[in-house]
Amino acid sequence: MYKNLIIYLFSGTGNSLTASRWISENANTKGVETEIIPIEGIKEIKTDNINSNTLLGFCFATHGFCAPWIMIKFLFRFPKTVNTNIFLLNTRGGFKFFKFHIPGLSGTALFLPMLILRLKGYRTVGLLPLDMPHSWISFFPPNNSKATNSIIVNCKKLVDKFSSKILSGNKFFRPQIWFTLLIDISIIPITILYLIFARFMLAKTLYSSYNCNSCRLCEKNCPVNAIKVIDNRMFWKYNCESCMRCLDICPQKAIQSNLTRISIIHYFLFYFLLLYVYINEYVVNWILAPIVFLILYWLLFWALRFKPFNMFITYTSMSKYWRRYIASGVKIKDFKKP
Ligand SMILES: Cc1cc2nc3c(=O)[nH]c(=O)nc-3n(C[C@H](O)[C@H](O)[C@H](O)COP(=O)(O)O)c2cc1C
Repeated sequence: MYKNLIIYLFSGTGNSLTASRWISENANTKGVETEIIPIEGIKEIKTDNINSNTLLGFCFATHGFCAPWIMIKFLFRFPKTVNTNIFLLNTRGGFKFFKFHIPGLSGTALFLPMLILRLKGYRTVGLLPLDMPHSWISFFPPNNSKATNSIIVNCKKLVDKFSSKILSGNKFFRPQIWFTLLIDISIIPITILYLIFARFMLAKTLYSSYNCNSCRLCEKNCPVNAIKVIDNRMFWKYNCESCMRCLDICPQKAIQSNLTRISIIHYFLFYFLLLYVYINEYVVNWILAPIVFLILYWLLFWALRFKPFNMFITYTSMSKYWRRYIASGVKIKDFKKP
């Protein structure tokens, strides 16, 4: 039915890349020519090989109950068309707790991209939220390898079913997406807060510890060029997507997160101001918070050059104590920008 399949991809730690590869393998067995294109670094979106015999796929991680900002911007830039079918697949953070598979939550990760593309004339033939092993290493420890394998086996089966269906010209919409619709809608305010505030704050929770040997692998492989080297030390800029690639690929395990500490400071500092100084909460959250975080980040960056202080901060960072995660079979070279 389709002659070619093009998958536009954003993947921080390889889950979405793995799902794209599964679809591509299935397409190849059906004689459909396939291309997986990472969206980072695409300057001009080529449309010469897109026509009514093309199936377009958009495959990406879920960040803050939404598609990552880089994907949303890409979709806004995506050219209009007539008569082209698309599918959307968002990988989410799945967790296995004893025997139970705990799913992630999509929020608007599928519906917003679908809407943007609908307005540009594309017809959606498949939506798939996929609960891959979670990758939010700055926040939680990863699944252990047994749980990871069991999650992957389930996901592969589901993706094979999904891709077989849509590649043979049918539609595939998982019933679960309608069951969670009410929750997805009710968390829209959290998504908005994530997009306009939390993602910038998250960018300022990462730092390189005393173990960093300045190999600059993180800088070279950052999908959005958010890591700047100042005095041979890594500095995270606001355009960081918090995709976790840098934390996970660092051979020294030298990149850590200050997320818990920053959240505690936020809580005490701002609630102290709100309760005892009676500053308007909007002023506190929208004006003071970003200024204070930026100043704190610069202070921390400056102070981390002193090894004893760096060691203290590193040893009190929770991320120091857990493993890292990269989807199995994915190598650093696979993250090459186009
Ligand atoms: C900053 C950040 C935010 C995330 N937010 C969500 C979320 O809202 N819902 C969810 O189910 N998973 C969430 N996750 C988990 C990832 O979406 C999930 O692990 C995904 O499979 C990663 O894909 P990738 O390896 O292709 O980057 C988040 C991960 C990160 C790093």
